[in-house]
Amino acid sequence: MGCSCGPLLRYDAPPMNVLGIETSCDETGVALYSTESGLVADVLHSQVDLHAMYGGVVPEIASRDHIRCLLPLIGQVLQQAGIERPDAIAYTAGPGLVGALMVGGGMANGLGLAWDCPVIPVHHMEGHLLAPMLEDDPPEYPFLALLVSGGHTMLIAVRGLGDYDVLGTTLDDAVGEAFDKSAKLLGLGYPGGPALAALAETGDENAFDLPRPMLNRPGFDFSFSGLKTAVMLVVRKATEDGTIDSSRADIAASFQRAAVDTLVGRALQAAKSEDLKRIVVAGGVGANRLLRKEMVDRFDGEVFYPRMAFCTDNGAMIAVAGALRLADASNAAEIRAQARWSLDTLSPPGAAQPDNHKE
Ligand code: KG4
Ligand code: ZN
Repeated sequence: MGCSCGPLLRYDAPPMNVLGIETSCDETGVALYSTESGLVADVLHSQVDLHAMYGGVVPEIASRDHIRCLLPLIGQVLQQAGIERPDAIAYTAGPGLVGALMVGGGMANGLGLAWDCPVIPVHHMEGHLLAPMLEDDPPEYPFLALLVSGGHTMLIAVRGLGDYDVLGTTLDDAVGEAFDKSAKLLGLGYPGGPALAALAETGDENAFDLPRPMLNRPGFDFSFSGLKTAVMLVVRKATEDGTIDSSRADIAASFQRAAVDTLVGRALQAAKSEDLKRIVVAGGVGANRLLRKEMVDRFDGEVFYPRMAFCTDNGAMIAVAGALRLADASNAAEIRAQARWSLDTLSPPGAAQPDNHKE
């Protein structure tokens, strides 16, 4: 698989093969990105089946499964790429589940010592934000990023690599969480987002009038707990009325429409206010087809997405972020694992990255 090197991916240094390791939550992702030829190999192991019976991610199970899968996946990537070792190793250092992050960080630093190659700690959300750089037409800076995942909902003015101004964030639930919780209320499995989106395709999005929270308030923050509560009340009423079986798809479609209207409405307000002509949508909820379509239809600038497989967690986005952050590579053999880590504390590559360990 190749990737054309757009204006953001121009390297003066000798070609480097960067191994990317993602273990922040319930996917073990490993990839190899070459600064010369783009994405060379990419493998993913999903733990969804392991967590499904618990209705959510169980941190201890996640860590153990990363331990079980990571080394074989790294071997597979190196074999696919036809190399014995990379020139640098990038790993997700946060935000995420600390035990799961420790597995990736420990492995990256251990292999870095063994192979005598430098290691780059990567911010998971910066990985999501840079995932469109793996596509043939990467966005140029500046752009507005709408980062929508299971743990985050953020609008960011991206003025350059590492130059981030967080304009808005969620005051309560992340939008992916709202998808997952609404799916659970509708009796769909875990993770609910994709299942709810699939069910919504067969429903009437005008059947229920659900709130579009915050759209009329100043600023660019989000709130999704009210929408989730509204879904809960509609489900409860339909259950009492005995109409739940015939209204599940309509509730799913009405919820999806309300969530997408909120995301797109807020993003358009932010792009206008910041005078940004490009929007990047990334993170797991960026795989939502209605969101992708609505943003393109309603924004009069350019819209960029990662391919579907790189919206949800993956190693390729960590590898490309590492390649862009080679100036931060070090042989210090220090494992970084931060559950919480604010994106706007990052600096451009090469500048000293602030120590957020106590955040
Ligand atoms: O980025 P991601 O893989 O993991 C985190 O960093 O959180 O995002 C996972 C989230 C989950 O909440 C999942 O339900 C949601 O993304 N998701 C979707 C879709 N695909 C994944 N939500 C709505 N529509 C989808 N098609
Ligand atoms: Zn993610």
